[in-house]
Amino acid sequence: MTSRSVKKKPAGKRIAAKKTSKKKAVKLRAASPETNHKSQLYASLVVQLLSLLKGEHDFIANAANFSALLFNSLPNVNWAGFYFLQGEELVLGPFQGNPACVRIPLGQGVCGVAAQQLETIIVPNVHEFPGHIACDVASNSEIVVPLFDGERLLGVLDLDSPLIGRFDDQDAEGLNELATVFVAHEERLGP
Ligand code: SME
Repeated sequence: MTSRSVKKKPAGKRIAAKKTSKKKAVKLRAASPETNHKSQLYASLVVQLLSLLKGEHDFIANAANFSALLFNSLPNVNWAGFYFLQGEELVLGPFQGNPACVRIPLGQGVCGVAAQQLETIIVPNVHEFPGHIACDVASNSEIVVPLFDGERLLGVLDLDSPLIGRFDDQDAEGLNELATVFVAHEERLGP
């Protein structure tokens, strides 16, 4: 099982990367404290998630602890949790935050679009996303990561923030890695 398809970087970033040699690009990344901080945070979350999952095979319990880990470890997040695919709609799973809408049809809202397109979506400003479903008025930005069992879509991991532009490519990479660890654990343990 894997998660996949981090949304492509904006063209501007790709152009900037082309102008810079590989060696310099690595140096530039290493020089950014914010970049270092985020990658260290996600590396630490992988270790913590593995520890939470160890020896436990209850899918709902593991999903609940995973959402609590994200909600309590990532700064400026007001909702973190799951929607799982049932037929043609996503149904609310374990989460942390305010009560949320229970059913989201495929193709609707950020979650439904990410599930339909099978790719991670970063929304810097939810008020500019056509069809955004507002579950918490405090939310201003959002990231949705699809979860896969091989090629089969299991559902999505959804995070909201009160900050505009809270999530970036590093969050997408970190959350995809965590989602992959989570799903791989469930698969290893089997039904
Ligand atoms: N905003 C989501 C709905 C789920 S809540 O954010 C928890 C969407 O547009 O799909």
